[in-house]
Amino acid sequence: MIVLKNNDFIERNEATIDMEDRGHQFGDGVYEVVRVYDGEAFLLQDHLDRLQYSLNEVEINYDVNQQGLSQLLQQLIEKNKINDGGIYLQITRGVAPRNHPYPEDTQPVLFAYPLQLSRPLKAQAQGITTILQKDFRWLRCDIKSLNLLGNVMTKQKASNANAGEAIFYRDENHVTEGSSTNVFIVKDDKLYTHPADNLILNGITRRYIFHLANQLNIPYEEKVFSLTDLKEADEVFITSTSAEVTPVVEIEGQKIANGQPGPISKKLLDAFFEYKNVGQLTNV
Ligand code: PDD
Repeated sequence: MIVLKNNDFIERNEATIDMEDRGHQFGDGVYEVVRVYDGEAFLLQDHLDRLQYSLNEVEINYDVNQQGLSQLLQQLIEKNKINDGGIYLQITRGVAPRNHPYPEDTQPVLFAYPLQLSRPLKAQAQGITTILQKDFRWLRCDIKSLNLLGNVMTKQKASNANAGEAIFYRDENHVTEGSSTNVFIVKDDKLYTHPADNLILNGITRRYIFHLANQLNIPYEEKVFSLTDLKEADEVFITSTSAEVTPVVEIEGQKIANGQPGPISKKLLDAFFEYKNVGQLTNV
């Protein structure tokens, strides 16, 4: 495996992290997961824009354009001959003696490398079961930060329950997102999902769904919904770079509608590749 470290391509066994890297000690860094289909990074510019947003919010001094990151990632795909898979990318604040405040003049440290991702065809065909979890994470879920302990603890809880995902709620009137996905419900042929504020990650796939909904003339609204809305929805589905569109057929043992993936989820999934040459979502 060839790894991108800062601006250099190195072998996997040379890709080491310093003990005092602040990403390692404080989770002081941000990341992205980009999907590669047919050797091409899907919605790369949107991922890079979100990465720049996360970097700016935590004041890590790294300019994605200036560094030519898009070109470096294209080279990473070619060097590793990634056809169907993904890229994991993280940037930390860098290496400094351990102290909480941001140190001055550290060089950010970037790592990017190929991820093995395959399409979740079985989950998409059958739908997944889910559990609920009170959202105990911090209040800046809009930043794609390396601090994922709340998410991994919750995904493990889902895994222990043989469920495919855990859905977070702040209180019973306020469902937010999944532990690593965004959540949509369908009611009376209309899509609803949480607004893009500080309580969720503004998923690239979430925004791609809006693009698909526009193409398919499916109305949608970014609106907070309740646990009752969720359980009584006509359809529920999750979205992410790796889950694409995956129907949810059960929540805490309770079936959604007839317990089968619904027609609108299927329609969106069928259209997923048809409208994928959108270029950049911010321009649609
Ligand atoms: N997860 N919400 C959370 C908390 C996430 O971690 C993710 C992505 C999403 C969906 O975002 P997108 O559509 O841009 O992938 C929503 C990534 C894939 C991960 O951590 O592996």
